[in-house]
Amino acid sequence: MTLFSRLYDHLMTPLEAASFCKMRRQIAGDAEGRVLEIGSGTGLNFPYYRRAASVDAIEPDAAMGRQSFDRIRRARVPVRLHAAGAEALPFPDDRFDTVIATLVFCTIPDPARALQEVRRVAKPGARFVLFEHVRMPNRPMAALQTALTPAWSKIADGCRLDRDTAGLVRSAGFSIRRMDSYAGGLFVKIECVTPG
Ligand SMILES: C[S@@+](CC[C@H](N)C(=O)[O-])C[C@H]1O[C@@H](n2cnc3c(N)ncnc32)[C@H](O)[C@@H]1O
Repeated sequence: MTLFSRLYDHLMTPLEAASFCKMRRQIAGDAEGRVLEIGSGTGLNFPYYRRAASVDAIEPDAAMGRQSFDRIRRARVPVRLHAAGAEALPFPDDRFDTVIATLVFCTIPDPARALQEVRRVAKPGARFVLFEHVRMPNRPMAALQTALTPAWSKIADGCRLDRDTAGLVRSAGFSIRRMDSYAGGLFVKIECVTPG
């Protein structure tokens, strides 16, 4: 278990209190039908699912996954955890009505491959909702994010501070229906639809 995964929930506590839990309540709370959650970590979204028929969550880091067991037991909807990475999803084509990803595309080693996998397993027209920290639009800030990434990535289990996730999502062929920026563009909520 890395130090980052052991401390993750503690590190997140102030951010959750500030606004993340509101975002999770919105994103997970609105998720309907068969839901796929990418990189569910310690399961911080699990308490907020209420309308989903079922949730399949994938998480490649066993230590993170273990920390979500209690939240799985207490969830209001059935949650199944799969030990898998987003680049090779263990599901058939056209399976999910909703896909959600929070604070995860910064860390996925091959995000373009992962987005192709999301396209494959999501039904045509399925909702895909992401909440991510991303490369900021302000150039000096973006340069700072790039400069800090090598050190940060070592501390935070591969997390990149300068990923252009919206650009990757567009390049993968998803139609972005709505994008909201927060904290000067450090965070974005992206709502898109899977192409038919
Ligand atoms: C910052 S944590 C976010 C966890 C959770 N989504 C949340 O909102 O708290 C990043 C997560 O991405 C996961 N991850 C890393 N590589 C991944 C991959 N290839 N596919 C899916 N998830 C991955 C990590 O194991 C970790 O749980």
